[in-house]
Amino acid sequence: MQASVETEIATAAALLLEWYDANARSLPWRSLPGAAPADPYRVWLSEVMLQQTTVAAVGPYFAKFTQAWPTVTALAAAEDGDVMAAWAGLGYYARARNLLACARAVAALGGAFPQTEAALRALPGVGDYTAAAVAAIAFDEPAVVVDANVERVVSRLFAISEPLPGARRAIRAATATITPGERPGDFAQAMMDLGSGICTVRAPRCLLCPLRPHCRAAREGDPAAYPVKPPKQAKPRRQGRAYWIERDGQVWLVTRPGKGMLGGMRALPDDGWSARADGSGTPPLDGPWQAAGTVAHGFTHFDLDLQLMLFGGNDFATLPDNEPDKDQSGEWWPVESIGAAGLPTLFARAARYATARPSEEADR
Ligand code: ADE
Ligand code: SF4
Repeated sequence: MQASVETEIATAAALLLEWYDANARSLPWRSLPGAAPADPYRVWLSEVMLQQTTVAAVGPYFAKFTQAWPTVTALAAAEDGDVMAAWAGLGYYARARNLLACARAVAALGGAFPQTEAALRALPGVGDYTAAAVAAIAFDEPAVVVDANVERVVSRLFAISEPLPGARRAIRAATATITPGERPGDFAQAMMDLGSGICTVRAPRCLLCPLRPHCRAAREGDPAAYPVKPPKQAKPRRQGRAYWIERDGQVWLVTRPGKGMLGGMRALPDDGWSARADGSGTPPLDGPWQAAGTVAHGFTHFDLDLQLMLFGGNDFATLPDNEPDKDQSGEWWPVESIGAAGLPTLFARAARYATARPSEEADR
């Protein structure tokens, strides 16, 4: 039994590597399949960049960096500002700062990357994934490399029915069982290529897949069901009101407090739905108020029904001359250019109940 499982696993790796030999993507940071490993600096740099965005988007950044700084010692000696500027567009400047910190740590070691997964992991900004990827791809260490592509392929191969993120442990263990001692770097990159080109998220192309003979999900018939997603958390539902106060073609807008939901953004005055589940706050001035419509909006941690209230229907005569709510900074904004106010979607949608209503003139 044991022997046949091991044989099957060895066969899976062999089939995958054979496929990779014929189908590997040619990428600027890669060596050819079966060739000596690529430059660790280029492997590390590409892996850090690839955590930010797609292979296609990384290309120009990788070229720019390796031209400006061909070695890790060159990068270590760069001005911080130059590296930040070259990184711009890749997102998360913290990553760029870590990149520099790591380059300088490697330079301090004499300019050679450490070769084991554990020693790589000890470098600044190098996480579990990057350490494993660099160890496998640059140093042929049989490290277990699991990115989102590998997660998908392996959860399908083994039909791992536990939902993410709990399944990660099982996925890692299963990946370990098929990671070969020979060519682990090619194996890891073959898994990534398979995941990006064949074992895709929505419509895996199992007929073209070298692993199909080993794939339990394909045998079951619905591989796209893996990896199993966690059940959706039921979100609480909140009720709130926003207030439309219009006078002489202008509407009263407030700037939301810097801290809290939609902080610092221009908005309609509201009743504090973001703090209260029942939106039981008070309107910014005494009514008469008239309900105009309700917008349903999903936030990360709750759903909101926001009802738009119109002041006095169209009777503005009762409006005081002073500002509607002196507690909040606000301004009168021309209704006709409400689109230029930069309202968050929630309020922009609510505002439509006011701007789309038939005007007084049309009513008459
Ligand atoms: N994604 C992350 N690392 C990669 C690599 N080395 N090749 C292809 N895709 C990747
Ligand atoms: Fe993915 Fe299909 Fe290959 Fe299984 S057979 S690994 S589901 S592409």
